[in-house]
Amino acid sequence: MSPEPSREAIMAVLSTVQEPELHRDLVSLNMVRDLQISSGNVVLTVVLTTPACPLKGQIESEVRSAIMSVPGVSAVNVRFDANIRADSRISGRLDIPIKNIVAVASGKGGVGKSTVSVNLALALHQMGARVAILDADIYGPNIPQMLGVDAMPTPKNQKLTPAIAYGMQVMSMGFMIKPDQPVIWRGPMLHSAIRQLFTDVAWEEVDYMIVDLPPGTGDAQLTLAQSVPLTGGIIVSTPQDVALSDARRGLAAFRQLQVPIIGIIENMAYFVAPDTGQRYDIFGYGGAERAARELGVPFLGRLPLDPRARVGGDEGRPVVAAHPDSEIADAFQTIARQLAAQVSVLSFQPDPELKII
Ligand SMILES: Nc1ncnc2c1ncn2[C@@H]1O[C@H](COP(=O)(O)OP(=O)(O)OP(=O)(O)O)[C@@H](O)[C@H]1O
Ligand SMILES: [Mg+2]
Repeated sequence: MSPEPSREAIMAVLSTVQEPELHRDLVSLNMVRDLQISSGNVVLTVVLTTPACPLKGQIESEVRSAIMSVPGVSAVNVRFDANIRADSRISGRLDIPIKNIVAVASGKGGVGKSTVSVNLALALHQMGARVAILDADIYGPNIPQMLGVDAMPTPKNQKLTPAIAYGMQVMSMGFMIKPDQPVIWRGPMLHSAIRQLFTDVAWEEVDYMIVDLPPGTGDAQLTLAQSVPLTGGIIVSTPQDVALSDARRGLAAFRQLQVPIIGIIENMAYFVAPDTGQRYDIFGYGGAERAARELGVPFLGRLPLDPRARVGGDEGRPVVAAHPDSEIADAFQTIARQLAAQVSVLSFQPDPELKII
């Protein structure tokens, strides 16, 4: 009988298996737990960043073959668990059951922030995460229309109740203000309105809250960052140079507010003609990815220009739900995996210098 394989030998081979999104090994990512070895049988748990990780199969077979290569191993049993990391600064500061708050911003208007927020939220939900979407666009809240909801339920126990759409909790500035009523936000009022969206709402457990911001790097981004600890920020850009210089400003604003950058998404990156399959790079190609590299932030992926994304937004049926097999839905799923992976490795600074008021 061959000698019992050692823990060290098993961990050594596991440190050669990469997490496919992060390109780092399972051991240094602390994803291996409960390793047991008995008479050549190896049992272990791999803790994933998302419950329904589509790359589970790949991870399992790589783990299995790595462990089987260790002399003395006769069988391998890989179990999976999921643990979406919580940004401890949130629970430290506010009494809300939200693990991570991710803000979606852009320097420029009309680049697709709201479309990205809705579909990314939905892709995270499809991965098995509990998701909320908060429409903090004080000037043009349009998340309710994009999700086909027009009001929130009656408040209970003096708390606002989020609407539910496609299995996600939804709250919007649009629920609080009358349509067509112009609102001029002054500093303190804006601040208390945004804060109210967190503290006066009866949120149920949330793994990821996606916050859709108004365009630009103005008051809302600042107010939000001062109201709640933001786990991270995402910048949406189109590929042209002008959009990218605005994106850089959005990024700089997050940095100034000490919000970690999760990455850049390139929207309307290309168009595939449905009749010929020919691909057109309408606004140029690869600009956002280059900018991400230059700025040293992750590039989360590119989304095609797809008329179904616009129609879906107008009709309250997000493209990820209406056309789950489309190229754009697939791109959203890839970006959602990237987001989950990046959030899992963000190092949360204990308490930024920024004053929370
Ligand atoms: N990938 C895409 N393919 C096709 N249409 C898109 C795509 N992304 C966004 N759109 C459309 O472009 C328009 C602007 O998108 P959206 O409202 O999401 O941008 P925004 O950045 O949130 O705008 P604002 O700055 O006004 O808040 C919408 O009509 C939307 O449906
Ligand atoms: Mg918008």
